[in-house]
Amino acid sequence: MSEAEKLGTPERKIRDIMSAPVVSATAAETIAVAAGRMREAKVGAVVVVDGDGRATGILTERDMLRFAAAGSDASTAKVSEWMTAEPDTVDPDATARDAFARLSEHGYRHIPVVEGGRLVGIVSMRDLMRIAMIQPVEALAHETPRGLEGVVVAETGIGDVRGLEGFYHYRQYSAVDLAKARPIEDIWRLLFDGALPATTAERDGFHAENRPLRALPDSVARVLPEIAAAGDTFIPLDALRTAVSLLGAASGFRPSLDVDHAELRANAMLTCAAIPTLITALYRLRQGLEPVAPDPALGYAANYLYMMQGKVPSDEHAAAVEKYLISTIDHGFNASTFTARVITSTGADLGAAVVGAIGALSGPLHGGAPSRALDMLDQIGTADRAEPWLRAAVERGDRLMGFGHRVYKTDDPRSLMLREVAESLGGEKMELARHIEATAIDVLAELKPGRKLYTNVEFYAGIVMDSCGVPRELFTPTFASSRAIGWCAHILEQAADNRLIRPSAHYRGEAPPQPVPAIIG
Ligand SMILES: CC(C)(COP(=O)(O)OP(=O)(O)OC[C@H]1O[C@@H](n2cnc3c(N)ncnc32)[C@H](O)[C@@H]1OP(=O)(O)O)[C@@H](O)C(=O)NCCC(=O)NCCS
Repeated sequence: MSEAEKLGTPERKIRDIMSAPVVSATAAETIAVAAGRMREAKVGAVVVVDGDGRATGILTERDMLRFAAAGSDASTAKVSEWMTAEPDTVDPDATARDAFARLSEHGYRHIPVVEGGRLVGIVSMRDLMRIAMIQPVEALAHETPRGLEGVVVAETGIGDVRGLEGFYHYRQYSAVDLAKARPIEDIWRLLFDGALPATTAERDGFHAENRPLRALPDSVARVLPEIAAAGDTFIPLDALRTAVSLLGAASGFRPSLDVDHAELRANAMLTCAAIPTLITALYRLRQGLEPVAPDPALGYAANYLYMMQGKVPSDEHAAAVEKYLISTIDHGFNASTFTARVITSTGADLGAAVVGAIGALSGPLHGGAPSRALDMLDQIGTADRAEPWLRAAVERGDRLMGFGHRVYKTDDPRSLMLREVAESLGGEKMELARHIEATAIDVLAELKPGRKLYTNVEFYAGIVMDSCGVPRELFTPTFASSRAIGWCAHILEQAADNRLIRPSAHYRGEAPPQPVPAIIG
C-alpha cells in the first residue's frame, strides 16, 4: 500500500491529469512541419503516430535542440530521423507516482499515455509537479524539474512561503502581520539579528546604527552624476547596480570567505542603508535636480520619499509605501535571493552578491512587472474594454502582468494586503483596477484552465506607488531597496554555514569526442 493510500488520500491517476488530445505528427512529416505544430500548440513535445493511431515515437524540445545544433535543413529532414523511436509509455490507470518515477528515472520530460495500443494522451513532468502530493526527494539525483520548481536547495531560518495556503513569513511571524504592526527598520533588525526590537531603546539603538549610513561616502557621491548621465535611456536599476558595485569597492568590502560575521554584517548594514539614497540621487541627477540629503529623523519610507520628491510626504503615503516595502523584503528562494546565495557560496564579497541579485531582479518575470501592470491598465483605459483586451492578449499567448506566480496557486497574501492599502488611498485608477483584476481572473480561468492564476504582488504594488507619487521607472528599484534587506540576511546566513553551490547538468549535445574539423579555404 502506498503512503497516500495509507493516509486515506486517493492517488491521482494519469487519466485525471494527462493532456488530451495529443499534438501529434507522422514519421514522414518534416521537422519544419512538426516544429510549427509544437509552436502553434505551445507544447514541448509531439507524439509520432502511425496510421493505426499507435505511438511509434516522440519528438521533444530536446530533439529539436540536437537538430538545431546539427545545422540540418528543417524543410527536408524527416521526423523519423530525429524522434526517439518506440518511446516508453504509461497506462492511463497508472498512478501519478508511477509516472513520476518513470519520467525521473529516464530523465524524460514527457511520456505518451497509451490504452489498448492506442495513444490517448500525454503527461509531462510539469503536469506531475503541479500536483502537490509528489515529493521528488529520491528522484532529484536523476533529474530536477525545469526551473528547479519544488526543489529544496538549502535550509533557512529567514522565512518561507506556503504557496497553497497563501501564507508567508519572516522568521516566526506572518509577514502581513508584521507589515501591519511594525516599521520596516524593526523587521530589518529581525532579519539581520534574529529578533524584533523589544523596547524603544533597542529600536533607537538600531536607528542610531543604520541611519547615519544613509549618507553616501564622498568617493561614491562624486561619481553618481557620471553614472546618472550614462546612456541615451536611463534605466534606474542598471544605474543602481553600477552604483552598488562602486559602493562595495569604495568601502573596501572583502571576500565573505575572509571576514567574520561582524564585518560582513557591517557591509550589509551599509549597503541596505545606502541603497535608497543611491536610487533617489541617481534619479534626481538624471532629471537635472540636486540630490536631497537623507534626514535621519525620518523613518525609512518617509526618508525615501523625501529624498525622491524633495518634500516630507504625508504620514498616509509614508505608511502605504512602507507596507509595500515590508511586503517585499523576502520571499523564499526566489531567483534573486538564490543568486545572492550562489555568489556568496563562492566566498565573494557582499557587494558582488547584491549586484548579482539586482541583475536577477531586473528581469520582467521577477521584479520588472509593477510598471508593466500599470501600463496594462493604461492601455485598457476603460472598464468596457477590459474583457476583449485581456482575452485577445491571452489568446495571443501574452502574459498578463501582475498575474500568476510560481509558488502561489491561490491569492497572493501580498496582493490582498496591498489591495487594502490601495483601497484606503482611493483614486480613480482603483475602480478600474478592481474591474480589470476580476475580469483577468475569469479570462485566465477560462483560457488557461487548471493553471490557478491569480493576482500577484505586482498588480496592486503599482497602484499603491502611483498613488504615493513614486514614478513608474522607480517601481523596481523601490522593490530592490527593501529586497536588499532580505538578500543581505540570506548572504549572512549562507556565509555563516557555507558550502559552494555547484549543481550539474545533463549534456545533451552531439556525442563527444568528435574529430576537430580543419578550417576550409
Ligand atoms: C510569475 C510567472 C513568471 C510564474 O511562472 P511559472 O511558474 O514559470 O509558470 P509557467 O510559465 O509554468 O506557466 C504556467 C502556465 O500558466 C500560463 N501563465 C502563467 N502566468 C500567466 C500570465 N500572467 N498570463 C497568462 N498566462 C499565464 C503560462 O502561459 C502557462 O500556460 P501553459 O501551461 O499553457 O504553457 C508567470 O506567472 C508570469 O509570467 N507572470 C507575469 C509576470 C509577473 O506578473 N511577474 C511578477 C511576479 S511576482
